[in-house]
Amino acid sequence: MSGSTGLDPAHDTRTGAPGEVLVEVSGLEVHFPIKRGVVFDRTVGHVRAVDGVDLTIRRGETYGLVGESGCGKSTLGKAILNLEPPTAGSVLFDGVDIASLKGEALRRERKRFQMVFQDPMSSLDPRQTVEALLLEGMRAHGLDTDASATHTRLRELMSAVGLPPSGLKKYPHEFSGGQRQRIGIARALSVGPDLIVADEPVSALDVSIQAQVINLLQDLQEELGLTYLVVAHDLAVVRHISDRIGVMYLGGLVEESEAGELYDVPLHPYTRALMSAVPVPDPEVEDSREQILLTGDLPSPANPPTGCRFHTRCPWRQETLCDTERPQLRVVDVAGSSPGHRVACHWAEEIARGEIERHEVAPETTDESSWGAPRDDGSPFLAPDGPPVP
Ligand SMILES: Nc1ncnc2c1ncn2[C@@H]1O[C@H](COP(=O)(O)OP(=O)(O)OP(=O)(O)O)[C@@H](O)[C@H]1O
Ligand code: SF4
Ligand SMILES: [Mg+2]
Repeated sequence: MSGSTGLDPAHDTRTGAPGEVLVEVSGLEVHFPIKRGVVFDRTVGHVRAVDGVDLTIRRGETYGLVGESGCGKSTLGKAILNLEPPTAGSVLFDGVDIASLKGEALRRERKRFQMVFQDPMSSLDPRQTVEALLLEGMRAHGLDTDASATHTRLRELMSAVGLPPSGLKKYPHEFSGGQRQRIGIARALSVGPDLIVADEPVSALDVSIQAQVINLLQDLQEELGLTYLVVAHDLAVVRHISDRIGVMYLGGLVEESEAGELYDVPLHPYTRALMSAVPVPDPEVEDSREQILLTGDLPSPANPPTGCRFHTRCPWRQETLCDTERPQLRVVDVAGSSPGHRVACHWAEEIARGEIERHEVAPETTDESSWGAPRDDGSPFLAPDGPPVP
């Protein structure tokens, strides 16, 4: 049955109920080799972009992924879409390990998950009309078999993203940034996906346009039963759009929770620092709220700290466990924290109950002067300069 967009709901709404697991990520690692040498291409180390992630994404939900630049968000998103091969671990999509599929079986599954990129200009071929861009994916997946049906579908896609059918004959440069992102969304929708990974989908857009694109994504989700993984550094955007949120630090998830609860009861010291940087509209609350400034640079993912990866910057670091044992995500017994809320900190309970005092952290800086500079867009995350690689 078609809704007001004219498009059919995602396949999953016919085969699986909302709330069931659609994506299951287990022990996922994506390591990139660091090569050196002109004659012999020696591998001298690895960037551990994703380093042991377990998460599930349920049908029909929006899972938000946050964390500072270089922590592995995009790599995780690409690995879920089978665009980066895993070094270890697995990604099950609707119960199937996509990495094990080949040929026609892989092609069939591929159309069920699509990506929307940050910069629509660089992800859309400027030499192709919008019609050609939309047809490309449909042809690749054998969805352009009947000229009349294709004609109708192209118009439905444009209407679904709020663009006139006359736009089909135009080129990407003839559109504004927000309109180009709508084309990027239409292209993702053209093959009828179940899951869309949107990597910073609005951060390249003017603030006034961001809300329109976010609303569009939400409307389409409701109507088509889509499942989203949204990567964003703007915590307000993530909160607005997400059902659940995962916080990443140096290749791993450090906290995961239902969206509202993460903001109300942040348990991991890193999450607390991020949340403390978000301004509160109420001036009284704003004046009295806890502010935690992180000192020191994000360590290199090629040489991550031992034990808890956050221990070099953690204001609650303890003499025992923190430097030696990597904490696993676990449910904790803390007031206001529900069973779906998991945190990777040895001392989460003691910190939440105020039994451990916050202390100063001596900054451990790296040589790279630009790495770690604040972003100029007001976000609490560090500048996207990339970490130093040895
Ligand atoms: N193809 C690659 N080869 C080598 N290293 C890579 C590659 N892609 C990413 N990396 C490195 O992996 C780490 C994680 O990168 P990723 O792009 O996933 O981070 P991110 O969280 O998306 O950052 P940003 O917020 O800046 O987009 C970084 O250190 C990055 O330099
Ligand atoms: S395990 Fe230790 S270093 Fe890591 S976040 Fe918790 S208190 Fe801080
Ligand atoms: Mg990224």
